[in-house]
Amino acid sequence: MLQHLSSSFKIALSCLVVLYLAVSCSNNSSIQPGTTALTDASIAITAKTTAGFVWYKKSDALMTKGANSGHPEPFLRTRYNATAAAQLDANGKVKTGAIFDEGSVIVKELIASDRTTITTYAVLIKQKSDPNADASGWVWNELTGAGAVAYPISNKGAGCIPCHSIAGNIDKTLMNNDHP
Ligand code: HEC
Repeated sequence: MLQHLSSSFKIALSCLVVLYLAVSCSNNSSIQPGTTALTDASIAITAKTTAGFVWYKKSDALMTKGANSGHPEPFLRTRYNATAAAQLDANGKVKTGAIFDEGSVIVKELIASDRTTITTYAVLIKQKSDPNADASGWVWNELTGAGAVAYPISNKGAGCIPCHSIAGNIDKTLMNNDHP
């Protein structure tokens, strides 16, 4: 009897340990810019979080894609976390000559012609120490609306940077260019 009790106690204890690990693992997968190497999975969680983000031009209204846009989706809107939003002016546009600080997160939502479905999230995160960061400290990623990886950070922005380096870019960002 005692034997039984102690083994079910052990099972209960193991369950608690497993539960604790599961919870702490899920916490670790949320993003902590500057402290943890980024992963496509951690970025997927961040990209979908809208809390604390500020919209370009202070509006969540859909914008028609710019002439230089590399995406097929007709609509977009872009938001900035608090660190990135420090580089926005009173009108919510990026300040001239801005250099985004470490920990900046910028998310562009690409939206289908139904004006509702987010088909792609394009994400920029400033984290200089990250092994996948480019020369400016940006980590580049895209995911589908469902959260699957569309452009992994391990590509180091190779397909993105040439276009994002065109004249008029501000620290490789283009919202001001195409949506003045
Ligand atoms: C052919 C050019 C082109 C390519 C390639 C491109 N982009 Fe962009 N991107 C733009 C333009 C233009 C904008 C401005 C908004 C718009 O009209 O789409 C933009 C805006 C963004 C923004 C919003 C922040 C800003 O102001 O730049 C993010 C984030 C972004 N792109 C990520 C990416 C990622 C990640 C890739 C590569 C997987 C990528 N882009 C490839 C043209 C491009």
